[in-house]
Amino acid sequence: MRVLVAGATGYMGAAVLRELVARRVDVVALVRPGRLLPEALRSVVTVVEADVVEDADWSEHIPAFDVVISCLASRSGAPDDAQKVDYEANRRLLACAERHHIRHFVLLSAICVQRPRLAFQREKLRFERLLHDSAVPSTIVRATAFFRSLVGQIDRVKAGKPFLLFGNGELTACKPISDSDLARFIVNQLDEHREGTVVRPIGGPGPAIAPAAQAVMLCNAANVPLKTRSLPPQMFDWFRWLLMPLALVSPGFAKRVEFLRIAKFYATESMLCWDHDNQRYDADGTPEFGTDTLAAFYRRVLSGSESAPERGEHRLF
Ligand SMILES: NC(=O)c1ccc[n+]([C@@H]2O[C@H](COP(=O)([O-])OP(=O)(O)OC[C@H]3O[C@@H](n4cnc5c(N)ncnc54)[C@H](OP(=O)(O)O)[C@@H]3O)[C@@H](O)[C@H]2O)c1
Repeated sequence: MRVLVAGATGYMGAAVLRELVARRVDVVALVRPGRLLPEALRSVVTVVEADVVEDADWSEHIPAFDVVISCLASRSGAPDDAQKVDYEANRRLLACAERHHIRHFVLLSAICVQRPRLAFQREKLRFERLLHDSAVPSTIVRATAFFRSLVGQIDRVKAGKPFLLFGNGELTACKPISDSDLARFIVNQLDEHREGTVVRPIGGPGPAIAPAAQAVMLCNAANVPLKTRSLPPQMFDWFRWLLMPLALVSPGFAKRVEFLRIAKFYATESMLCWDHDNQRYDADGTPEFGTDTLAAFYRRVLSGSESAPERGEHRLF
């Protein structure tokens, strides 16, 4: 079996590569021209440089493959970039996969697409529908929050500043999952014989954690007294309304407006399965996988035994 990994230079793409390499799977990593994989991976996988979005002939350079794992995603979440990457790049990847008559396409998506309000969520859903309608057997992994999304306040807390909460810190909850646990879950999908499309929402080991409990965990790991400050989530709307007139004439401000929408979404919506019948998030109904906990991760980062992942463009604080 040869697996083509797209988005191999990203946070989850690299974790999936490590997991495949550990299982001795034959891997082709698709990377944008000029982007480098970590040294340890570069020498053990076949690297193909191609620009899926810009280059019409990109797929001519790809060796035959049986399975695709796509961890492609817009790095900014801006509407035009999301259209280009979350939808269009994945669409081109699927067209190539169809030509190769592959047996399984695994898409890393996000649990937040259940209640789409943001441009990038709509683009992800648009591609999910395309995958569903194609003849290629597929698994859509809708993951909850990554540990990477929950490292933003480590430096504040270490410096003795209060942990910032929205409202009372209980407005949202998630079952955070580590990159290695999620990578194992994704690669495990390849063991399953797939027909049609299956959607797999997935979180890390429970219980679900609200930001208030996250503050306690982080302060304990940093060995500092618990200090929090509450912010109103509506603040994102206030800034958005201020910027709206500028957004009408400036693409730069339009992106900032979308970013404020994204921030408000994550400040007020849980990363858990949505229970349509009862119109609420369902912590118990959100599947769990793995063993690595956020508390243990915070302890490792604060003791210096692990570095906090780069947050790239996904930062709020
Ligand atoms: N953050 C969370 O808590 C969370 C939770 C659940 C699900 N998710 C979802 O998980 C997925 C992966 O997230 P991640 O954090 O691993 O993403 P990431 O680190 O931002 O990586 C994105 C990948 O897509 C590639 N890419 C971006 N723009 C591209 C373009 N124009 N052409 C070709 N490749 C492009 C990047 O390549 P370059 O290195 O060349 O830029 C990179 O390999 C996303 O769909 C995300 O929505 C995230």
